[in-house]
Amino acid sequence: MSTDSDRRYLWHPYAPVVNPPPVFEAAGGSGARVRLADGVELIDAVSSWWCMAHGHNHPAITSAIREQCDKLTHVMFAGFTHAPAMELAEELRQRLPAGLKHIFFADSGSIAVECAVKMAVQYQMARKLPAKSKLAAHGGGYHGDTIGAMSLSDPNGMHTMFKGLLPKHFFAPMPAVPFDGEWRDEAFAPMQKLLDEHADEIAAVIIEPIFQGANAMRFYHPQYLKKLRAACDAHDVLLIFDEIATGFGRVGRRFAQEYAGVTPDIMCIGKILSGGAVTLAAAVASEQVGEVISEGGRGAFLHGPTYMANPIACAASCASLRLLDQYDWQSRVNAIESRLKDGLAPARAIAGVRDVRVLGATGVIEVAQMPSPQVVRRIVLKHHVWLRPFGNWLYTMPPFICTPDEIDAISETMLDLAAEAAQ
Ligand SMILES: Cc1ncc(COP(=O)(O)O)c(C=O)c1O
Repeated sequence: MSTDSDRRYLWHPYAPVVNPPPVFEAAGGSGARVRLADGVELIDAVSSWWCMAHGHNHPAITSAIREQCDKLTHVMFAGFTHAPAMELAEELRQRLPAGLKHIFFADSGSIAVECAVKMAVQYQMARKLPAKSKLAAHGGGYHGDTIGAMSLSDPNGMHTMFKGLLPKHFFAPMPAVPFDGEWRDEAFAPMQKLLDEHADEIAAVIIEPIFQGANAMRFYHPQYLKKLRAACDAHDVLLIFDEIATGFGRVGRRFAQEYAGVTPDIMCIGKILSGGAVTLAAAVASEQVGEVISEGGRGAFLHGPTYMANPIACAASCASLRLLDQYDWQSRVNAIESRLKDGLAPARAIAGVRDVRVLGATGVIEVAQMPSPQVVRRIVLKHHVWLRPFGNWLYTMPPFICTPDEIDAISETMLDLAAEAAQ
């Protein structure tokens, strides 16, 4: 089939409809690879936007979906519950940090962020603190593309053009000390000052723990999170961790919060949760947040998406979480980390490379200048490795099931791109 209908009718993410960039037609997928309509196979080094950790069409996930389809495809979650949602709650309970209890399912990561923000504000309203209706967030942060989520993402990042539309929140600069840098207390001073001055107006602080993704591609020091937890407690402000990208092993711990030993009041999860075949996310609240909202003010939490806790997505997510343990995600992610560290190290010698960083199954080469889209496409087809660099970042977040050879192929492709960028 030609892609004429695509060009004529379909609007792709972050793309124009006039002279859109070319797209590959995917016809199948297996393991780390996507098979194109012309038979070419590409290693999906981006895990299809960071969710496909177990690889494409994993039989455990596809059969969980098939089995659930024979029983119940959907039922509204107001007034009903079902086995897949309850099973998933039990699976999550075994894995979530102690202290997080009440799971509110959402259809996508962005919506989970919206729910977390509404929970925080409703919590403060229930405590008769209606002035605490803003959030504090960070430069370099990214929390999604819906309006609330955009308003909490880096104001100078990819959503700048929507400034006039977005509600105003408070921002501190991005956490300055890198993950393996030497901690300095001054690095927390801007957020400390912000909370000292504005805590009366702030319901919660939101942050991507350890790894700021789509607006920074950067790992920062765990001590920042410890300081943040203490400052939030001292100022009666909730703490929200957005673990949508980092959750379930992506940066080397089950959740990135483990690096700091800090538990938030609300945590957003998504992406690897469902393993990539169907969409599911959640905002998970502490017992206190759940109870205060339920016992004060309106009582009920005022949110209810149509497809909330979709049974097929819950069944897929149960299979996804069990798979992680079955194939020992920790040793696989450790192995990917050391292979990526070795494989990407030569980039440091390439002109125009500003930094090379790896944590868990996430590797980034930061370049002064990005190669053109045409060059990226040529290199992708040369190596049969799908990468989608953006900003100043050549990056990979490969499926955890990648073989050492596949990881090496990804590293070589990134080195080739870095060399092309230097031309
Ligand atoms: C940290 C973070 N939060 C939220 C989102 C939004 O998730 P979704 O694309 O599922 O709406 C993303 C997506 O990349 C993300 O990385």
